[in-house]
Amino acid sequence: MAAAKVIGVVGSGQMGSGIAQLAAVNGLEVWLHDTDPGALTRAEKSISESVQRSVSKGQLPQEVGAEALGRVRFTSNLEDFQSADVIIEAIIESEEVKKILFGQLDRIAKGSAILASNTSSISITRLATATSRPHQVIGMHFMNPPPIMKLVEIVRGADTSDDTFNATKSLAERFGKTVICSQDYSGFIVNRILMPMINEAFHTLYTGVATKEDIDTGMKLGTNHPMGPLELADFIGLDVCLSIMKVLHAGLGDSKYAPCPLLGQYVDAGRLGRKRGIGVSGEGRKMKFLFQCPCCSCFCFMKTKAGKAKVKDEAKKEAKEKDEEKKEAKAD
Ligand code: CAA
Repeated sequence: MAAAKVIGVVGSGQMGSGIAQLAAVNGLEVWLHDTDPGALTRAEKSISESVQRSVSKGQLPQEVGAEALGRVRFTSNLEDFQSADVIIEAIIESEEVKKILFGQLDRIAKGSAILASNTSSISITRLATATSRPHQVIGMHFMNPPPIMKLVEIVRGADTSDDTFNATKSLAERFGKTVICSQDYSGFIVNRILMPMINEAFHTLYTGVATKEDIDTGMKLGTNHPMGPLELADFIGLDVCLSIMKVLHAGLGDSKYAPCPLLGQYVDAGRLGRKRGIGVSGEGRKMKFLFQCPCCSCFCFMKTKAGKAKVKDEAKKEAKEKDEEKKEAKAD
């Protein structure tokens, strides 16, 4: 199979825009798709800022950065993916939604195109059944943040061909990544091991063994992890962690994978981590914490009501400030 020249990425969130950036910096033409034009605008800004940061740090020559930015095209029309040699899906973790998308991509993409999923745990074999080309469907799982993390986990579905595997591996290596290969079982390699650890960190907090700070510090300093498990959960997104635990539980059928009730409760309360500015850990950029248990903080979820009240108050205050600004602007 000839080396890929054009890549399509579906979903312009943190993962999709990071993958698009990687592809562009490594010389590929990129189409980045999202149904939400606002998400595309945010992705364009974040890719541009990230590339410019690499240029200003001297990690990327200025002309290479400028050329890379010129190679990314943003679209809300999937038909633009007709020229893509490889299409990487990075949308929400829903098997149903992904299957619909894979059916659409199968109709739009050229016959030789590979359809890859960045799914963190959903069956590649089942996604492939939505297409007429199961031998060209594969898992290409990047870690967050894709431009920084050195790993790509490649997942072979039951019918993935050797050609598809080799072409996907070459592409990941062109991006400067180290490849590992997993068979298609729930959670693959990384999340099969990482998510039960994060879930156990929630149980440790839930049962009052320790404070969130001590749990994270213990794992950071005691095992040299760059982030503690609760901080990492906020970084990944608590909704994503919960959905992966549910996939592990359903797919592997062992009660040891049952999601911790506290993780479920945080998600129910909308505390999804960094992307919402509210999560479980006590630190991290862009994080705002609504409450801190004054005595021990290990059962801080019991303070939900106080937290909610504060969120409401803050939202009201923000709305009032905006109204006042509008009034002032009108008066001018
Ligand atoms: N995009 C591009 N560059 C980024 C970045 C991003 N989103 N975030 C950080 N960086 C860069 C910074 O610019 C900085 O670059 P220099 O060293 O050249 O200055 C470097 O990364 C370090 O960043 P910071 O100094 O700001 O912060 P840090 O030292 O705390 O590092 C981190 C940030 C790289 C994210 C680090 O904390 C880390 O490795 N955390 C663990 C991340 C991890 O485990 N990811 C995997 C999650 S699991 C997953 O993704 C699988 C799944 O399916 C859920």
